[in-house]
Amino acid sequence: MLLSMTTAMAAHGAVTKAAFGTTPDGTAVDIYTLKTEGIEARIMTYGARVVSIKTPDRDGKVADVVLGYSALDGYLEDKTTYFGAIVGRYGNRIAFGKFSIDGHQYQVPINNNANSLHGGTVGFDKLVWQAHAVADGVEMTLVSKDGDQGYPGTLTVHVRYTIHHGALRIDYSVSTDKTTVVNLTNHAYFNLAGDGKGTILGEELTLPADQYTPVDSGLIPTGVLAPVEGTPFDFRKSAVIGARIHDNSEQLKIAGGYDHNWVLRGKSGELKTAARVYDPGSGRVLTVTTTEPGVQFYSGNFLDGTKFGKAQEGYGKNAGLCLETQHYPDSPNHPAFPTTLLKPGEVKHSTTTFTFTTHAK
Ligand code: GLA
Repeated sequence: MLLSMTTAMAAHGAVTKAAFGTTPDGTAVDIYTLKTEGIEARIMTYGARVVSIKTPDRDGKVADVVLGYSALDGYLEDKTTYFGAIVGRYGNRIAFGKFSIDGHQYQVPINNNANSLHGGTVGFDKLVWQAHAVADGVEMTLVSKDGDQGYPGTLTVHVRYTIHHGALRIDYSVSTDKTTVVNLTNHAYFNLAGDGKGTILGEELTLPADQYTPVDSGLIPTGVLAPVEGTPFDFRKSAVIGARIHDNSEQLKIAGGYDHNWVLRGKSGELKTAARVYDPGSGRVLTVTTTEPGVQFYSGNFLDGTKFGKAQEGYGKNAGLCLETQHYPDSPNHPAFPTTLLKPGEVKHSTTTFTFTTHAK
């Protein structure tokens, strides 16, 4: 079954829909292909996940630059990597899965050592979203019931993926009927050399951030905004990812590499550059912009060769990197951090863009 809504390619992206299997409870999963000049992205309704992004290298040779599986089964079996997913309600960690709102304490699932990670045991990455095609893309909708994974409030989430000349744009909008906390992000793993083409350690990263949030042994922020100056966390000037990853740094040891939140310059709510990655081999450049106040740069430290992806190869340590635009981890327990509270009557909007270009040798 193929519903085609092809429009003039120059002005608009073409959007097509196809079946992508069924979940064990019989729910049908669809996949949308969005295509325009310089980019083809495939997004499925299970977890509103980015399944592939194809872009050309400096010689025009096209490759898939995100990690994942060729079929739905791989995604259903993998409970730990969050490949390509929208994570929520709370992307990243909440200490001991506990927080209070208006004097009421909430407990959400502990699924990462002593803490709650990425919305709990059955987060938004493991649910089938409703979807419909829109101009240049697809809009995914999820209604999470009051009490889902222990979080208060019926949450209505819209995530709109659109493509524009070499770019994938994600617009989030979310509302609630009871005061709650929310932190949505996308968890795509990129390897600009191409999926399954070695590690990201030779890629060059820029993060326009003067501070980051150091963590304790459970990867929970201590609450301090520490300067990046003079540390392996300083990416204000482009640096090779692998150059300092094995430095004698307590923070790098705790996480087994980079798995930290950088405090972005500029205002929360304004679209600003969050990161830039350059792969010298292929010439591909990824520029990330966001309205979020932070970005989690995760260097794929927990990939251990046991997940066999599209390229049929086990994804080893550092096979991909994530740039999760977000509010800071554990914000509900750090009143000084930008707030993640959402009240009834409010609509929280957020935008992140991933733009692919190339750089000559
Ligand atoms: C996020 C976390 C990491 C890890 C991955 C998923 O990036 O910060 O610690 O849990 O998700 O494996």
